[in-house]
Amino acid sequence: MALLSLILHCIHAVPQVPCYFIFGDSLSDDGNNNYLPTLAKVNYPPYGIDYPQGPTGRFSNGKNIQDVIAENLGFPSPIPPFANATGNAILKGVNYASGGAGIRFETGETVGARISLDMQLTNHAITISKIAAILLSNESASDLLSKCIYTIDIGSNDYILNYFLPQFYPTSHQYTPQQYAKVLIQQYSRQIQNLYHNGAKKFALFAIGYIGCTPYAVATYGTKNGSACVDDQNQAVQLFNEALLSLVNELNNNISDAKFTYINPYGFTATGFVTNSSCCEVDNGGQLCVRNSVPCSDRSKYTYWDGVHPTQAINILAGDFAYATTSTSNAYPFNLQSLALQ
Ligand SMILES: *[C@@H]1O[C@H](CO)[C@@H](O)[C@H](O)[C@H]1NC(C)=O
Ligand SMILES: *[C@@H]1O[C@H](CO)[C@@H](O)[C@H](O)[C@H]1NC(C)=O
Ligand SMILES: *[C@@H]1O[C@H](CO)[C@@H](O)[C@H](O)[C@H]1NC(C)=O
Ligand SMILES: *[C@@H]1O[C@H](CO)[C@@H](O)[C@H](O)[C@H]1NC(C)=O
Ligand SMILES: *[C@@H]1O[C@H](CO)[C@@H](O)[C@H](O)[C@H]1NC(C)=O
Repeated sequence: MALLSLILHCIHAVPQVPCYFIFGDSLSDDGNNNYLPTLAKVNYPPYGIDYPQGPTGRFSNGKNIQDVIAENLGFPSPIPPFANATGNAILKGVNYASGGAGIRFETGETVGARISLDMQLTNHAITISKIAAILLSNESASDLLSKCIYTIDIGSNDYILNYFLPQFYPTSHQYTPQQYAKVLIQQYSRQIQNLYHNGAKKFALFAIGYIGCTPYAVATYGTKNGSACVDDQNQAVQLFNEALLSLVNELNNNISDAKFTYINPYGFTATGFVTNSSCCEVDNGGQLCVRNSVPCSDRSKYTYWDGVHPTQAINILAGDFAYATTSTSNAYPFNLQSLALQ
């Protein structure tokens, strides 16, 4: 009897934190954009070809990085999208992420509607009142919210769908890459502190990936000097990531009753992957798969699913890395496993 109960306990293992709230862009979106008038939505095949429920709005052939992190944290099912989250499910967390979204409001407006980070924070305030209503107490809600992990993975689009589209957005005329990283981080700092004032205490802030190495970037901008990547794009993002790490240090120094960590989920080395082409056939924009097209069959060998988003295979490596890496240049001062214990 004791053994059976032990086994049952393990199967229904309790997550390491009671709740997980996710903010971000298409790398994390699990269905919020399905309901919006935008080109940045992917609830059609071949997206989801390796996902049990098929196309859900995840920008991947299967799981996205947040699905993998939620599994690592012990959640038995994925964190529901805000657009769909109902009832007591919200007590375990909500995913607010939206394809095309950025730190800045105007980011992504050329592709259509998107839920900017400020709007995601507004949606979180709605969730908080619902949680207080379910728990019949603001105090119980605050207590719960203080124990959750809050992940924000945003900023790629402030470059891809803003700074590096000078024909549509003025930012690259207004700011040098150094200045732009600084204004982004200043705005981001206020947004993060808004979340803190709404009861968050455990923050994971994600670095931007190698946007200059995507098939989209290489095809659109070309490379120089024999590089495999668009180096000036990666260099611009590197300035953002350095400033983000400094921000994390400042926030940890200034705010004593919260923990902040910097996570670069792409700090691992993966060998044997095809990196110079997308697994699926991409449309004219160069970013998303052609509707109903037939993708590559060896999806586990590709880095890029479409023109800009990683395959499930890479998302699993990245999510596992974010959770468990002991490399302090990629997870500082905590990986997600130790953030949960703080
Ligand atoms: C949202 O809810 C609808 C209706 O219940 C369901 O068909 C759909 O799969 C859900 N979408 C997501 C992304 O969970
Ligand atoms: C929580 O606080 C707000 C604002 O003070 C109040 O309007 C609301 O009724 C409170 N909710 C609960 C469940 O106590
Ligand atoms: C290409 O390489 C040369 C020689 O190393 C260097 O002087 C030049 O600045 C590089 N060009 C670019 C665009 O990086
Ligand atoms: C941290 O505190 C210092 C000193 O008060 C202040 O100058 C700085 O802006 C604060 N940093 C953040 C990110 O709030
Ligand atoms: C990708 O790289 C492989 C191995 O270096 C090469 O054989 C192939 O032609 C490249 N494909 C494209 C589309 O550039």
